[in-house]
Amino acid sequence: MSSYVPDLEAIAREAGKLLMGYFVRRVTIEYKGEVDLVTEADRASEKLIVERLRAHWPEHGIVAEEGTRSEMDAEYRWYVDPLDGTTNFAHGYPVFCISMALARQDGQLEVGVLYDPTRDEMFAAERGLGATLNGRPIHVSQTKSLAESILGTGFPSHKRHKNPNIHFYHQITLRSHGLRRAGSAALDLANVACGRYDGFWEFILNPWDTAAGVLLVQEAGGRVTRFDGSAFRLDSREVLASNSLIHQELITNFEEIFAGRGLEELPSVAEYAKTRI
Ligand code: IPD
Ligand code: CA
Ligand code: CA
Repeated sequence: MSSYVPDLEAIAREAGKLLMGYFVRRVTIEYKGEVDLVTEADRASEKLIVERLRAHWPEHGIVAEEGTRSEMDAEYRWYVDPLDGTTNFAHGYPVFCISMALARQDGQLEVGVLYDPTRDEMFAAERGLGATLNGRPIHVSQTKSLAESILGTGFPSHKRHKNPNIHFYHQITLRSHGLRRAGSAALDLANVACGRYDGFWEFILNPWDTAAGVLLVQEAGGRVTRFDGSAFRLDSREVLASNSLIHQELITNFEEIFAGRGLEELPSVAEYAKTRI
């Protein structure tokens, strides 16, 4: 099978150029939910990508975030996020990407390409062939403990009040070098793959957010599971990714946090204001 990567990279670059055009002139924010944003750029990027994928591989299915569902019985299916990081994009914060991945019907990931047009960074991975950033092989970090790690996480735009992630954010911040909430789950995973993050997790994600990033992490030598260590599947909504060296420690810490053990009590705002640093 010849590599999908060159064609995918060309499609990603084209979509990236289109997104940057909208980004510099700014776009109007529309709402899919209370804080679930969408813009004309999301839709235009999806239209372009879907047209190109269909032209190259008409026999493949496509599932894309802004509504495309086609050839759902096909043996292979594309998962497309035409703009991951819409909230950042809509506010002019330059952290967003395009994510595309191909999976077999049984969920096995074959290839993933993720492009950050703000930094001109092209990530690619193919099953069994490793992962690259701008054509150079990448590898996860060598960090051996959570205490020495930097990690990323994110918060969904649906059911915000019911999401317990703020407890995890608090606790993992106290137990590591720190956390980032950059606003693009796909890029967060790419950052684990290339060793900028030692780990990443999020509670509710969709396959278009995770497919390319998960393959990148796996092909770069990292590990991706659910929070309890069980196998990650494309329809798993939770994702825990790491450099693999700190994975078990993360699982153990997550168990503790879920069980509410060892949680630091927060001081009141007034109490903290009196603290001398
Ligand atoms: C969102 C981003 C964000 C994550 C949300 C996702 P979108 O995707 O990846 O980082 O925290 O859960 O929904 O809506 O910008 O494509
Ligand atoms: Ca997304
Ligand atoms: Ca999106």
